[in-house]
This record gives sequence, C-alpha cells and structure tokens, in this order.
Amino acid sequence: QTVLLIGAPVDCGKARNGCLMGPDAYRTARLGGALTDLGHTVRDLGNVWPDTTDVAEDAHLVALPETVGWTRALSRAAEEALRQGTAIFMGGDHALSLGTVHGAAAHAAKVGKPLFVLWLDAHSDFHTCETTESGNLHGTPLAYVTGRSGFPEFPEVPHPVPEERVCIVGLRSVDGPERAALEATSIRRHDMRDIDEGGIAAPLRAFLEEVTAVGGLLHVSLDVDFLDPAVAPAVGTTVPGGATVREAHLAMEMIHDAGCLASLDLVELNPMLDERGRTAQLMVDLAASALGRTVFDRPTPRGL
Ligand code: ARG
Ligand code: MN
Ligand code: MN
Ligand code: MN
Repeated sequence: QTVLLIGAPVDCGKARNGCLMGPDAYRTARLGGALTDLGHTVRDLGNVWPDTTDVAEDAHLVALPETVGWTRALSRAAEEALRQGTAIFMGGDHALSLGTVHGAAAHAAKVGKPLFVLWLDAHSDFHTCETTESGNLHGTPLAYVTGRSGFPEFPEVPHPVPEERVCIVGLRSVDGPERAALEATSIRRHDMRDIDEGGIAAPLRAFLEEVTAVGGLLHVSLDVDFLDPAVAPAVGTTVPGGATVREAHLAMEMIHDAGCLASLDLVELNPMLDERGRTAQLMVDLAASALGRTVFDRPTPRGL
C-alpha cells in the first residue's frame, strides 16, 4: 500500500499556539518508519502552506483569512494525495479538516464512491461561523463539510458529506448550539457514556459495516483529545474522561480490518504541552494500528 504523509501545520484554529510543531513531532516519533516497517511504501510530501486570500478579518472569528487560505490549499493537497494512495495529514489543529475533508469529498465524487467520515473527538466541532462562542474555527469543521450554512467566506462545498455517513465517537464536551444543531440531524453520535455502557466495538462495527457494504471510502479524523488526558496530555483542549489507550487501538485495528481507510487526520497535537514525546508516540502507534500493525495476525472476532 502507498501511504502519503502530508504536514499541515495549521495553528490558527484557536488562540493557544504550538500545533505548528505537530508535523515535525510526528516525523521525530518516526511515523514514516513505523509504516515502512509494516511493508508500506511511504512518501512524505512535506508541509502544505496556506494560500494568500483577500478575505477580511472578522472581529468575532480567530484568523478567518488564514483559515480560509489553509482550507483552499489543503483541499487541493488532499484531493491530489488521495489519488495516489492512503493519505495521512499530520496536524496541525482541527481547522485543517475544513480542507482535508473538503478535498477527500471531491476525490470521492470523482471516483464515484460515497465518502464516510468518522470523527474521534471529545468535541463535536459542529459550530458555524455564526454560532461559535469562542471564535475558534477548529470548532467548526464538521459543520462545514456536512454542508451547514454559515461559512460565507469559505469555498463552496459542492460535495457535502451526507449526515447518514457521519459518526462521532468520544463526545463529552458539546456546546449548546452544537447540541441543538446535532439533534436536528441524523449524524450518529456516541458520547463517552455510550462507550462506558456498551464498549466502543459495537457502534464502530455497525458504522464500518455500512461503509464496506456500499464500497465507501472512509476518512477518519482523530483529535488527540479523543483520548483521556492522563494518557495524552499534549492538547490545549483536554477534557477528562476520554478513551483509553486500548479503546483507541481497538478502534484503529477495526478500521484497518474493514479495509476502507482512505485518509486520516492526526489533529490537535501540541508538542509544547507534551511530556517526553509520549502523546506524539501514542498517536504514531495509533496510526500504525490503523495501517495494519497487530500483535498477532487475526481478523477482528465477530460479536464483540
Ligand atoms: N466547542 C469549543 C469551541 O467551539 C471547543 C472546540 C474544540 N475543538 C477542537 N477541535 N479541539 O470553542
Ligand atoms: Mn476536534
Ligand atoms: Mn476536540
Ligand atoms: Mn464553543
């Protein structure tokens, strides 16, 4: 399998800086080497940089022009990378998904396959430019790519991801307007209570089976804060009560076994907040699981 690594050092999706260093932290933690060890052909395409735009600043939003520039550049980069193989976007904060999912959707439309999105996150990132209270655009990408209105300065979304093809897992911090908007959609949402009660495997299996049943492409957006801060401290938006190391690995192992992974965002890693690189290392290990690393080779058992 050919795997493309794309650096997306987006750091303007929120006020606290540091995600800029994410791509190099993944390189230092040997993301490429880990995937080469699995037998993949890995190409690091280097970092993407934002287009310049003539969009004006908006007092209510953090770095609107720069974020629009990133969205344009990353959409093109994603579409191009997906043509060549499995794409891994090394973030960068979650605003990068405004572009990567936009581009993945364009690619899917071109090859005539349905795109599905799995959002692994403590947050739903379902604000629009109008509903965000913080003004931080990393809180908006899922709303944008599903075609919600309220993104006047951003590129059109010619291929919105249909609500029925989106699944969020790991939720434990959802703002009022996001909750109201989500409840009016058919987007599947599994909060941490759901996972506590029934485990992570059952809802994930149900979603992955829908993807494979129609030969779909899967885009996975993995936010560091999906994980519990005790095991993944290097993120600015920690929320207690997150996924364990094993829950996250099982999710990645099941994604690999489903055989439909087209692209993966690794987002919100802030190396300034890390402890001896352990969060970067965990994210690399999770990516390796998604690309086929196992303890013993065996298919995921049924009826988990
Ligand atoms: N809902 C909050 C906001 O809109 C937090 C968003 C956190 N998003 C993230 N990608 N970490 O400001
Ligand atoms: Mn997020
Ligand atoms: Mn988050
Ligand atoms: Mn908010």
